[in-house]
Amino acid sequence: MEIDLREAQGVAERAARVAGELIREWIGRPAQTLEKSSPHDLVTEVDKACQEAIYRVLHEAFPDSTFLGEESVAPGPEAATRAAQEADQTLLWVVDPIDGTLNFIRGIPACTVSIGLVVEGRAVVGVIYDPMRDEIFSAYDGGEATCNGQPMKVSPEPDLSSAILASGFPTGAYRGKNAQQIMRFGHHVRNVRALGSAAIHLAYVAAGRLDGFWENDLNAWDLCAGAVLVQVAGGKVTDADNAPYDLFTRHIAATNGRIHEALLRDLDLDTPLSP
Ligand code: IPD
Ligand code: CA
Ligand code: CA
Repeated sequence: MEIDLREAQGVAERAARVAGELIREWIGRPAQTLEKSSPHDLVTEVDKACQEAIYRVLHEAFPDSTFLGEESVAPGPEAATRAAQEADQTLLWVVDPIDGTLNFIRGIPACTVSIGLVVEGRAVVGVIYDPMRDEIFSAYDGGEATCNGQPMKVSPEPDLSSAILASGFPTGAYRGKNAQQIMRFGHHVRNVRALGSAAIHLAYVAAGRLDGFWENDLNAWDLCAGAVLVQVAGGKVTDADNAPYDLFTRHIAATNGRIHEALLRDLDLDTPLSP
């Protein structure tokens, strides 16, 4: 399918900014909060309003595209996987209207809009917008990765031991494993951050602020845009078994490339840590 990726990127940026205005308006005081798949997994009326606003902008510009947005999918990993499998990947927008809902609810300024575009099965455009810092991270396959229009690239850090990594506390069954990995790396690398938004972590790897990010059991909408950003910025994105990233990847590892192998090796809890 012939599509102008630069145009698609511009439309995604516009949509992200429209949702970002709602986030700025409602952060810290959302109207209604509901529990989703677990007590760790919450959603608000504003998540839904953001998704609708994003959908309107994208659909107006690309009426033939399809849309995979978190708020249209039933809670839980099975439903998320099924939705990704069933989505027509010819021209597919993959959207997390607010990544970092818990931060949003509590007024912690680390919540982002994440919009990825898949064309014929390949993630090719990624836009992540942080409305609280007014930072837009943006890239398309074959173009340049930018933050607020300025070129960005992954960090040059060569050693895992001096790296700053990020991870999270996923909402489902992998929370314990992830916490164990965080403990392990806590002793072993320069430091570990958990900012509460997978998308912000991926954007920061792309911008060279972090050297790597991993997390188990994330959904397509958490990862699609950020995976494009990291790859176009010169980094590497795989699953925990080193298979290349695709729409079905759930256990993500995204790095500057140089520490990738070491990170994957040390994520394996059954293997002694490398020196
Ligand atoms: C969550 C965030 C968080 C990650 C969770 C995700 P949400 O997304 O990305 O950083 O640890 O696993 O579910 O629910 O705020 O869109
Ligand atoms: Ca999310
Ligand atoms: Ca979300």
